[in-house]
Amino acid sequence: MKKLSISLFCLLLVAIIGCQPTETTISQTGLLADSGMVVSAHPLASDVGLEILKNGGNAVEAAIAVQFALAVTHPSAGNLGGGGFMVIRLKDGSSYTLDFREAAPLKAHRDMYLSDSGTVVDQLSIDGHLASGVPGSVDGMIKAYEKFGQMDWAKLVQPSIDLALNGFALTKKEAAGLNNNQEKFKSLNTVAPDFLLGDWKAGDKVVYTDLGHTLERIRDQKRAGFYEGKTADDIVSEMERGSGIISYEDLKTYQSKWRDPIFGYYKGYKVISMPPPSSGGVALLQLLGIVEDFPLNTLGWQNDETIHAIVEAERRVYADRATYLGDPDFTKVPVKELVDHTYLTERMSNFNPKIATPSDSVAAGSIQYYESDETTHFSVVDKFGNAVSVTTTLNGGYGSKVVVSGSGFILNNEMDDFSVKPGVPNMFGLIGGEANSIQPKKRMLSSMTPTIVEKDNELFMVVGTPGGSTIITSVFQVILNVIDHNMGMQEAVEVPRFHSQWLPDVVVYENGRIDSLALQKLEDRGHQFNTTGSIGRVDAILVRKDGKLEGGADPRGDDAASGY
Ligand code: DON
Repeated sequence: MKKLSISLFCLLLVAIIGCQPTETTISQTGLLADSGMVVSAHPLASDVGLEILKNGGNAVEAAIAVQFALAVTHPSAGNLGGGGFMVIRLKDGSSYTLDFREAAPLKAHRDMYLSDSGTVVDQLSIDGHLASGVPGSVDGMIKAYEKFGQMDWAKLVQPSIDLALNGFALTKKEAAGLNNNQEKFKSLNTVAPDFLLGDWKAGDKVVYTDLGHTLERIRDQKRAGFYEGKTADDIVSEMERGSGIISYEDLKTYQSKWRDPIFGYYKGYKVISMPPPSSGGVALLQLLGIVEDFPLNTLGWQNDETIHAIVEAERRVYADRATYLGDPDFTKVPVKELVDHTYLTERMSNFNPKIATPSDSVAAGSIQYYESDETTHFSVVDKFGNAVSVTTTLNGGYGSKVVVSGSGFILNNEMDDFSVKPGVPNMFGLIGGEANSIQPKKRMLSSMTPTIVEKDNELFMVVGTPGGSTIITSVFQVILNVIDHNMGMQEAVEVPRFHSQWLPDVVVYENGRIDSLALQKLEDRGHQFNTTGSIGRVDAILVRKDGKLEGGADPRGDDAASGY
């Protein structure tokens, strides 16, 4: 098995998640609002969603408008050419999950990223045309609208068209993101994407003309505006020029899917999350199920015993992820068994409070079943009490870095989320096996964890984050911060986080942001540590005891809450 070295893993996390050291001062309370709120990675996108809410739109309609606005204002992760997951909880307590994850093209095959000698060809699943799965975001937004939309569809897309065609000012972080990728934009594109090329500074005005016209086609023709006609012609021509494999047939047959939400209970709170093909919901419920047996609230936040219990839970859960999780339409995923409390207790039977369990002695748990397998998050609550949690992605920052020439949007590099070869880590250091092998039309396993939490049958929290493999553990910690450590939403989002994922056998934490005494005690137990700039960009909303909504907008990015 090729193991990613620990330092390389940390460097990769920094490169992929775009880490910057963060301030340690914590704002006490986030934005408060009485009626509705949007928290997203970009202030302009949050404002687009807020306007929809103020005009009587519901949370799903606002989420659709935010998805399109992020495709313009936050192109490293917001997208038309990617995919994602949406978790919805209506005011009547019913919940729905929409899977608009990309799918492997029809011409994809299991060994498509291997050389003749069977080794993984460097960067082939990460950079360029062959790295893209069939995009799902546009179909996803249309499916969500068909089920829950009442406003005129055009009104949900128009604000993004206006942003793209009239232009807007780059933030410092967005300018840096573009500057850091100039070489790849040049080398990986068959036609120079002039609108991305340059030496950018904060405040520079950008206009995305081709993207604006693509959004107009989506406004006017809905699905056909993307999966047929000019946009489809542009995608297929792009593929032909760059030796990619997405075809007209792939675009015509792509369908996002409504799936049954996964839910479980933690200390009486109901946690509703995304089922496979995301591993997020299953892993989150496993983690919460395990730590429910530990008195985290009395041990305290950043206490060494708390961190030890969390890390030990994480290594076992990520070992299960690598073996059992994949697209449920292609492989039997034993969801019920994995989240079963007796199974989770058994998984922790060799837990030693004094010693870290070496990851190479931890394998996936034994389950009896019959087998026949740069992201962004936003949270929305409307005045009616409906809530939506969406995580959407191109995978790495700016995805495959390939722009569909003539249509002005970037394609994902989501194919890297498949297990390109059993046991070989992907860009997040995650390994996988048969359950997540490549097959035509199959969806690659995800860690995205858009989640909604209920308390006493009422809406309590909407939460999620980008961050690749760290997504699950960030959502997990934010939920614990609120439920066990009594933090408000903004504080729970801002405080430092750490992450472990079974392999590599290391705990990564935000530089200088873990208690040094706790760190020493954990090292004495045998845990290995490494630092990174920052972990995740959590955007969340809490319904407080006084009925007000509190936004948690992550200062690790440009993230902003807008409410009224
Ligand atoms: O679906 C997944 O788990 C990954 N493609 C998510 C990538 C991601 O979060 C990158 N962002 N920082």
